[in-house]
Amino acid sequence: MSERWYKEAVVYCVDVASFQDSNGDGCGDIPGLISRLDYLSRLGVTCLWLNPIHPSPLRDNGYDVSDYYGIHPRLGTLGDFAELAVQARERGIRLLLDLVVNHTSDEHPWFQSARRDADSPYRGWYVWSDTEPADRRQGIVFPGEQTETWTYDRAARRWYFHRFYDFQPDLDWSNPAVRAEIRKVMTFWLQLGASGFRIDAAPFVLEQVEADVDPGPLDFTILDEWRQGVQWNAGDAVLLCEANVDRDQLAKYCAAAEDGPNDRAHMLFAFWLNAQVWLGLARQTAEPLVATLAQLPKLPAMAQWATFLRNHDELDLSRLTDDQRTEVMRSFAPKPQMREFDRGIRRRLAPMMAGDRRRMELAHSLLFSLPGTPVLRYGEEIGMGEDLSLPGREAIRMPMQWDDTANAGFSPVARTRLVRPVISRGRFGYRRVNVRDQRGDTDSFLRWFESMIRALRECPEIGVGTLQVIDKGAPPAVLVLRYDAPEGSILVLHNLADAPAEVALDRVADVQHAYQVFGDAGYEPLAPRSPSVRLNGWGYCWLRLRRGS
Ligand code: NOJ
Repeated sequence: MSERWYKEAVVYCVDVASFQDSNGDGCGDIPGLISRLDYLSRLGVTCLWLNPIHPSPLRDNGYDVSDYYGIHPRLGTLGDFAELAVQARERGIRLLLDLVVNHTSDEHPWFQSARRDADSPYRGWYVWSDTEPADRRQGIVFPGEQTETWTYDRAARRWYFHRFYDFQPDLDWSNPAVRAEIRKVMTFWLQLGASGFRIDAAPFVLEQVEADVDPGPLDFTILDEWRQGVQWNAGDAVLLCEANVDRDQLAKYCAAAEDGPNDRAHMLFAFWLNAQVWLGLARQTAEPLVATLAQLPKLPAMAQWATFLRNHDELDLSRLTDDQRTEVMRSFAPKPQMREFDRGIRRRLAPMMAGDRRRMELAHSLLFSLPGTPVLRYGEEIGMGEDLSLPGREAIRMPMQWDDTANAGFSPVARTRLVRPVISRGRFGYRRVNVRDQRGDTDSFLRWFESMIRALRECPEIGVGTLQVIDKGAPPAVLVLRYDAPEGSILVLHNLADAPAEVALDRVADVQHAYQVFGDAGYEPLAPRSPSVRLNGWGYCWLRLRRGS
């Protein structure tokens, strides 16, 4: 593999507890995940991002860590993790871990010591105020579930800061001891075989919080140090930042200097692009995408976007205007119970698209051919659904549907003992949507997914090439992207509307010898004199224009 492995990766986000139970306790675990690596390998996954696996009281799905050096006992042991790292690497699959260090759990021994003992070495590891901050009800991330950002602690007799829930006290990142400890945490997991980290809540880690100063200044030297540390420990390890920030702030997460080298995070989630993709899908037009791609901040050459359609949280539409958000909600989350935090959608893709295979293919073909590295949430490859009877973001965290036996083949226990209920009813229930059935059906969505990822392997330009958005000759519904790289040139076309659309390609260089690599139908050969493609409604195709010398 090249040094740019992350640019050609297919990242698959797994919640280990929901994937495969191996020991019959009703909860997915690391040995269960190991037993499914062959499935992931066949799918074409090259990198797993594991949602938090550490000991935790699990009040925020593990994003409330109580020991950074361990594995939650329900998921397995450190030995199991080392085994996973080896088994994954044997199959060319790397591991990214969630690094959740903006805050700890309030049950973390550091916080317990800090609050109980004024002389504790950990007192200075958290952010305190002796007096009640006037802004303590501001800066809330989870409206409806969270009422304040400063909470009074009786034992410490002062207020502590928590950007998220009150059981997640923020670490004080201005404290060198905190910095040194977390560097050790990173070293530990890299030595055990991780290939990097998804940096949870990156802007909040960098923010230097002080009572009544909102927002606090950002300290990017934290990222500088992490990058150096990671590279020193493992040359090919990467940092992937969760930073849903303003457009003009994004590039700073990848480089200290404008136009400078990539000396901070290697990858950044493309939240901004994601919201525009959904606006385009709702409006059935490529225009929001054309505009956004033209304005994407330039990242340093070695840095890369991480693109996605949805992740483990609500599908966050906060970067849209109120009217735009209403449009997307109207199309994809028409009922109030499908929404979350006044800004997002708690549904999975297949039900959002009413199970319409053409739209599901279009959306994923688009995702996998946008500039960046695609990140897929487990279960999307078979078109899993959601369970809106569960609270909040739990609705999209259901067990993986492996087959049509009891509990979807996820676990052999009695249904009542499952870590989460399986989806058993309706169109997306496990008897109708599962891996085993789709494995046996050559026309299934899973088979389609595998063939798309295989096609991507033949088009490295999409991960690494220079992007050009071609809007001349394209009707408003169609997004036409061209990628040029030493390996060759690729043209990708996506029709975001249900009506067929004609795309003139006569101005596209090298189009004369174009041949199709992937598509919902056969679109070549193109007429030599006036080449054009008539895309089906929600049709798409990837054309190879040129191979490198
Ligand atoms: C971002 C994570 O994606 C989300 O799931 C979590 O609740 C917050 N960070 C708090 O850790």
